Amino acid sequence: MNNLPSPPEMKQVEKLLLEAEHPVALTGAGVSVASGIPAFRGAQGLWDRYDPLEYASIQAFKADPVKVWGMLLELRQIIARAKPNPAHYALADLERMGRLKAVITQNVDNLHQEAGSGQVIEFHGNGSSLVCLDCGRSRPRDEVDFEVIPPRCGCGGLLKPGVVFFGEAIPQEACERALAAVERSDLMLVVGTSALVVPASLMPRLAARNGARVVEINPEPTGLTRGLAELSLLGQAEDILPVLAQGVRFGLSQRRR
Ligand code: OAD
Repeated sequence: MNNLPSPPEMKQVEKLLLEAEHPVALTGAGVSVASGIPAFRGAQGLWDRYDPLEYASIQAFKADPVKVWGMLLELRQIIARAKPNPAHYALADLERMGRLKAVITQNVDNLHQEAGSGQVIEFHGNGSSLVCLDCGRSRPRDEVDFEVIPPRCGCGGLLKPGVVFFGEAIPQEACERALAAVERSDLMLVVGTSALVVPASLMPRLAARNGARVVEINPEPTGLTRGLAELSLLGQAEDILPVLAQGVRFGLSQRRR
């Protein structure tokens, strides 16, 4: 599907991107849907098949690690096959053009980095390492033996992926970097997130409180659409972002003439 918002709406966002001093993006699962990774909520969402209360909290993980690891390994297989899509590439292009200073992402799939984004803040951690719940040691996923589930640390403790479960804190460094980026931002693109999960969902609100303009890109309206977002581009990120990036590139080339 390639349904773009109206040309005046697209032009308006291009202009905001060209004029902003410190544009940042907040991304969610919707950005990776075109890469074949299902979102969490909505039809065919992961939480349709797996009750988050039973699978996504740290308490649930500790109570039944074998069951939760089953879901994690299924998701990992999907992520391992996934490649960046035009939305990821467009965000990386915007950064190269100096028109995006950071991507704060709730995703743990590494696709922003694979597409070439350098300033990626992984708000919900990432799955490339595992951490021991007993001794706290972290190790690369590739070095872990998955023959026996749940995988265990040398100390005997339970290993958990380095992603944030409900009931866990946001990694401190990611939290600090995100807050610093949001504080400086004068424009925030909110892309492919239902904006339902705190504290990530507070970032657009914080940005707006600091005077930033908020633009949403999502095929469905969210809680930000009415009220917080100055502009809401209804459509898929993989259709909209490449057109915006192209428009920004053209705008920059005109400036240099
Ligand atoms: P959700 O699944 O809650 O929301 C995905 C959003 O993407 C929805 O608003 C969709 O309308 C939108 N969407 C779907 N396809 C899209 C497309 N092609 N382009 C743009 N948008 C599209 O995912 P998140 O908001 O990322 O946390 O979820 C936030 C957190 O909740 C996740 O990080 C995860 C989850 O539980 C933890 O597990 C801690």
